[in-house]
Amino acid sequence: MDKPKVVLGVSGGIAAYKACELLRRLTESGHDVRVVPTESALHFVGAATWSALSGHPVSTEVWSDVHEVPHVRIGQGADLVVVAPATADMLAKAAHGLADDLLTNTLLTARCPVVFAPAMHTEMWEHPATQENVATLRRRGAVVIEPAVGRLTGVDTGKGRLPDPTEIFEVCRRVLARGAAEPDLAGRHVLVSAGGTREPLDPVRFLGNRSSGKQGYALARTAAARGARVTLIAANTGMPDPAGVDVIQVGTAVQLREAVLKAAPDADAVVMAAAVADFRPAAYASGKIKKKDGQEPEPIVLVRNPDILAEISAERARPGQVVVGFAAETDDVLANGRSKLQRKGCDLLVVNEVGERKTFGSEENEAVVLGADGSETPVPYGPKEALAETVWDLVARRLG
Ligand SMILES: Cc1cc2nc3c(=O)[nH]c(=O)nc-3n(C[C@H](O)[C@H](O)[C@H](O)COP(=O)(O)O)c2cc1C
Repeated sequence: MDKPKVVLGVSGGIAAYKACELLRRLTESGHDVRVVPTESALHFVGAATWSALSGHPVSTEVWSDVHEVPHVRIGQGADLVVVAPATADMLAKAAHGLADDLLTNTLLTARCPVVFAPAMHTEMWEHPATQENVATLRRRGAVVIEPAVGRLTGVDTGKGRLPDPTEIFEVCRRVLARGAAEPDLAGRHVLVSAGGTREPLDPVRFLGNRSSGKQGYALARTAAARGARVTLIAANTGMPDPAGVDVIQVGTAVQLREAVLKAAPDADAVVMAAAVADFRPAAYASGKIKKKDGQEPEPIVLVRNPDILAEISAERARPGQVVVGFAAETDDVLANGRSKLQRKGCDLLVVNEVGERKTFGSEENEAVVLGADGSETPVPYGPKEALAETVWDLVARRLG
């Protein structure tokens, strides 16, 4: 089988050096990558690096190898074009259809999915011109990854940083896997919770659960690759932030509730994949609870935590909002799932059985997605990403 053909466009930002790592990930995972830098990009990383790492000649303009008509052929032959970093200038040119170098020509001739990973100073990113250009590109079907927040060129920090190349690679992999499918969540804002809450007993101990957050992260990553703006509320996951996803870290169920209620009014869909503790210790000891000679420990008194899924299902923050819950069950899985769906009042409930090599901590899962309309969608044993895609298929259908 031919290797998938990827065009890696590199424009002239300080983060151009990070594209070397993206290039390496793409080639090592079996992609045939052609690098098309801009003239400015070569001020940051030279043509020799791109050529040696990709195994292809490198040109910035349309006047080399004219007999091969590269200004048309490179774009026509691509399965994916990814521009990383994408400068403010490149976003403007792409939005307005300019074609004054090889990369801009390639963007006009490509009919495959296109991913932009912008990186620039916060002022440039927030400027209405840039925001309108990004909106135009998204409306036309491109996936534009939100920049990360962090250290920028010089001493500045803020939004505008290129996400980690590993995470940009993850977006590319998912967009490629979707092939010609439209980014059907473009223009949507989705809220995902992931991980497991921890309910502190004292400064060193907590009551927790075995959720790793992998299913929630798979949901966040797949939604981003389908064009959504994603807010991920992460409870004790310890995983790197997915590219283009706004991550809010929380610890306890009460904190998770606060974060969900704050973000939900702006969300088209809320997917509650986090394992939220049903109970928390009634009291928190400000000092470490000590063993006492000859005495049994005090019993731990628990109180109920708020039921976040029931709360957001009952009081939809906006009309038409789709709410999805998760249920990990050990017995009577489907019957328990059905009654939980009714009790909570959500639109979809992903029911999975707790077991070896699935659900908590594993890379795989197997589930049935129950719908409030009586539907049942079985998802066979496979990567958590596949279950995530099915959830978004069902959500996208309900969002219309
Ligand atoms: C040191 C330095 C760093 C720069 N970093 C960025 C950047 O991160 N993002 C950006 O949009 N422009 C950045 N620029 C400005 C661009 O290089 C400039 O707009 C250029 O015209 C972009 O050309 P291109 O889009 O054809 O690559 C930087 C310029 C310099 C001198």
